[in-house]
Amino acid sequence: MTTKVVVVIGAGGIGRAIGRRQGSGKTVVLADLNTKTLASAASELEADGHTVISRQVDVSSRDSVHDLALAAVDIGDVVEVAHTAGLSPVQASPAAILAVDLAGTALVLEEFGQIIAPGGAAVVISSMAGHMQPPLDPAAERALASTPADELLALPILTPAAVPNSGAAYALAKRANHLRVQAAAVTWGDRGARVNTISPGIILTPLAREEMSGPGAAGYQDMINTSAAGRVGTTDEVATAAAYLLGPDAAFITGADLLIDGGVIAALRADRLQVQFR
Ligand SMILES: NC(=O)c1ccc[n+]([C@@H]2O[C@H](COP(=O)([O-])OP(=O)(O)OC[C@H]3O[C@@H](n4cnc5c(N)ncnc54)[C@H](O)[C@@H]3O)[C@@H](O)[C@H]2O)c1
Repeated sequence: MTTKVVVVIGAGGIGRAIGRRQGSGKTVVLADLNTKTLASAASELEADGHTVISRQVDVSSRDSVHDLALAAVDIGDVVEVAHTAGLSPVQASPAAILAVDLAGTALVLEEFGQIIAPGGAAVVISSMAGHMQPPLDPAAERALASTPADELLALPILTPAAVPNSGAAYALAKRANHLRVQAAAVTWGDRGARVNTISPGIILTPLAREEMSGPGAAGYQDMINTSAAGRVGTTDEVATAAAYLLGPDAAFITGADLLIDGGVIAALRADRLQVQFR
């Protein structure tokens, strides 16, 4: 019997939860830039009985993502991909956020779009920040959706002058993820595969903890307080949504975005909340 492979890119909070949820009966190819994070996530999953192969990857490098895709398909049929690697505004400069969150996602979609198994599926973890991004003009949306990944960072809308700070870079990158995944759903569909985004709200992971103890702490508390749920989300809640989108019940869903934010964007649209990009 051919080995079924689930590739989890990003071994942080959300990646671990998806790996645990989706890994049973498959080989989990777990990838991250940070080798310490990778080793601790791999041993956690292995201790739970999963079969894990760890690979270091830098999603901002085409060669690195290409090597990861080849390594995964060498192991077996790549039936699921969860792309969870990313940087948040307090962690990185605008340029690094655009290279990892925006161009890195485009590289993952291009490289894994070459090897995903027929009937396979992927989820890309975007963010509710993509829903906070002010509307872009249609030409900008088209460029973000379809410019080849290696040329994306040269677009005028992504120059340092056009993207003043890390918060703006993050929102733009996460909006670009929605557009990019919708465009990729066409070529992935030609192979009989599907791809969708999930846009989480505040999910308690190392990334969210850093954000919530940074200069935007009060703003995060405001989001929690004004949202319908009135709490943070858990990585298990994101993994449950990923399981649905990756599985057969979502066979008619591709190129879509699932917002899981406890109602933060709803509160924003109802003027109960103001958000400023730092
Ligand atoms: N936690 C939240 O509240 C939240 C909310 C919305 C969106 N997200 C998004 O979810 C995704 C996962 O976040 P998380 O909360 O699990 O964070 P996390 O920090 O726990 O995990 C992210 C992982 O990405 C890895 N990474 C960073 N740069 C990389 C690169 N160049 N190549 C490969 N790996 C790299 C990091 O080492 C880290 O292990 C991110 O894209 C984040 O923007 C998170």
